[in-house]
Amino acid sequence: MKYEQINSELFKRNRAKFMAQMKPMSIAIFNSNDIYPIGADSTMPFQQHRDIFYLSGVDQEESILLLFPDAYDKINKEILFVRETNEHIAIWEGEKLDKTQATEVSGIQTVHWLTDFDKVFFNLMTEAEVIYLNTNEHYRQSVETQTREDRFIIKCKNDYPAHQVAKSNPILQQIRGVKEPEEINLIQKACDITEKGFRRILKYVKPGIWEYELEAEFLHEFIRNRSKGFAYTPIIASGNNANVLHYIENKNQCKNGDLILLDVGAEYANYSSDMTRTIPVNGKFNKRQRQVYDAVLKVKNEATNMLVPGTLWADYHKEVGKVMTSELIGLGLLDKADVQNENKDWPAYKKYFMHGTSHHMGLDTHDYGELKKPMKPNMVFTVEPGIYIPDEKMGIRLEDDVVITDKGSPFNLMRNIPIDAEEIEDLMNK
Ligand code: GLY
Ligand code: MN
Ligand code: MN
Repeated sequence: MKYEQINSELFKRNRAKFMAQMKPMSIAIFNSNDIYPIGADSTMPFQQHRDIFYLSGVDQEESILLLFPDAYDKINKEILFVRETNEHIAIWEGEKLDKTQATEVSGIQTVHWLTDFDKVFFNLMTEAEVIYLNTNEHYRQSVETQTREDRFIIKCKNDYPAHQVAKSNPILQQIRGVKEPEEINLIQKACDITEKGFRRILKYVKPGIWEYELEAEFLHEFIRNRSKGFAYTPIIASGNNANVLHYIENKNQCKNGDLILLDVGAEYANYSSDMTRTIPVNGKFNKRQRQVYDAVLKVKNEATNMLVPGTLWADYHKEVGKVMTSELIGLGLLDKADVQNENKDWPAYKKYFMHGTSHHMGLDTHDYGELKKPMKPNMVFTVEPGIYIPDEKMGIRLEDDVVITDKGSPFNLMRNIPIDAEEIEDLMNK
């Protein structure tokens, strides 16, 4: 791995939190991801399933974590199964974890080769009454492929029809939503790498540059700082491309007088950062661009201050909508009649700001986390309002990642990434 090894104490604590919520005499299983094929013998780069990573730190394919807090023999309370390694594999594919290394990474004492899984699992299932299966219940999930976890679920329900089934996902949503201090440090590290990328591109942007050239500069800076690369597919959208919310082609030339919306974040040790900045191609906002920019920044700052323990995600979005509405009236984009006649299910401001303001952020960019219960300290959220005006050939979004604290306003993990319009202009014109 490019990243520095994470202390296994984090994973031990994460497992303890999960196991504390398991029912008596129950086993939970977590599978790694597959390596996804492209065609012929080509594959996508491996990305570990975030749940097994969160609970074990194991960052390689063909791994299984088994948790059984009430196992008769305490050596079976936590078991890791990893792919058997040997000299041949080491020569062709590089080093995989041996049993000692697997223990070092995860803090788990009992490690078996994956080939022993069926036998060991059968033996333990004869002791257990409940099996926790890890289905994907993320509110935005939409997965067409069958994952390794899905295959395991089908097989397990078929092989063990008399066991009760329980869901891992609600426990994970709850515990992964509230970050440990080590996790906040890792997210901070990802944000700091993103900052380096942003400062680098500020020096490169000028009329005539291509969006993909900026993508390349970001990636260069990310990888040289021990990141695997982008935490999500980056959006580098100049001019009206900024009004296509998921524009990821990054293929156009940036024109004098336009803005560029950059929704780009580095990953570090599988943790995400999620930043958006919008900057002028020629290094100077015109008057109207600046008006809209300052309105978005104001909404971002006011929204950030609402992220305190106890806030409800749904109420927060309504309050942010009110601030946005007032800014859009100030910009002449809405008038009082638009607001008076608005549809409560799709308020008038949504014409210019049609996406959510915040999401949990962490191992997944749109991370797990409870959304129907009050916010808690150490949850990490993005704050990302935008105003999109195709008729004026501009779309402006600003996005920071913040940690909820019990000391008033949240802690901004992107506090060092320039956002003030004048600071950005100064840096671009140095
Ligand atoms: N970059 C994805 C998002 O902002 O949610
Ligand atoms: Mn983003
Ligand atoms: Mn985001």
